[in-house]
Amino acid sequence: MIHKPVLLQEIKEFLNVPPGAVVVDGTLGSGGHAQAFLECLGATGRLIGLDQDPEAITRCRRKFDGDDRVILVHRNFREIKEVLKDLNLMKVDAVLLDIGMSSDQLANEKRGFSFQREGDLDMRMNTAEGEKASYYLQTLPEKEIARVLYEFGEERQSRRIAAAIVRERRLAPIQTTQRLCEVVENSFPQARQFEKGKRPVWNRRHPATKVFQALRILVNDELGALREGIDGAMSCLKPGGKLGVISFHSIEDRIVKEKFRDFVREGSGKLVNRKPLVAKRSEVIDNPRSRSAKLRVIEVVS
Ligand SMILES: C[S@@+](CC[C@H](N)C(=O)[O-])C[C@H]1O[C@@H](n2cnc3c(N)ncnc32)[C@H](O)[C@@H]1O
Repeated sequence: MIHKPVLLQEIKEFLNVPPGAVVVDGTLGSGGHAQAFLECLGATGRLIGLDQDPEAITRCRRKFDGDDRVILVHRNFREIKEVLKDLNLMKVDAVLLDIGMSSDQLANEKRGFSFQREGDLDMRMNTAEGEKASYYLQTLPEKEIARVLYEFGEERQSRRIAAAIVRERRLAPIQTTQRLCEVVENSFPQARQFEKGKRPVWNRRHPATKVFQALRILVNDELGALREGIDGAMSCLKPGGKLGVISFHSIEDRIVKEKFRDFVREGSGKLVNRKPLVAKRSEVIDNPRSRSAKLRVIEVVS
């Protein structure tokens, strides 16, 4: 599975990276956006690439092997300030955060991100630290599970699903993606209309979609990292430097919008685009993942 970068033209146009610039790609993934930056940077520019997933760093080391404009670091973008300090680079021209998970992560059943593939319920982007999703499912109180599903997944049936998880985990720990899917499916009344032992067919969104999203956000503290990453990036940009953030669901986009609004109010930033940029129809047809992508860009004023 090759990850297709989203909103590539819009990133080029709105971040508008000149030759010789220093750019941070905080979410390397498969290096699609990073590659596009390198095409703009000329011989003297620099690209600092971060990813918390060691597999993304390995992939991009192979991809950019021999290009001495590129520095790759296995770190969380919430630590962007420390990373740049370690590299003796205090101020940069542009930062991109293309948050969420990559198609490569989704396609690897061992990572546990997809409800469509059987695998260990891991969901850690940084496999070198932290607890797996199965740990949280086994240890969190029912109320806390319900809160996570509601706040991070906007799941309206959060309490019903949390109760089913707690009931089922007493029988046996929920350690795989398909066991979690079954628990979620069985907590919906319409599932009972189907023959016992058979999985129902869902004609719209699978009921575990939001549950998986919520757990992934919890396991990786994605919203905390986003808030700190935006603050860190803004403090590392030169006046006139730009931060672009691509988000994929309303919870993330709300955080970006509110953070950007605060920078504008305090006079340290100005919005490059008032409304978020979204993918054109042709891009959505070519890459359905781009359907929910929203790009907001802010420029540092002082
Ligand atoms: C949507 S993909 C990025 C794809 C990339 N722009 C490309 O063109 O291939 C998101 C990537 O960001 C990484 N990521 C997510 N949150 C992160 C964080 N807080 N710090 C560092 N990397 C993060 C994920 O591991 C994943 O590889």
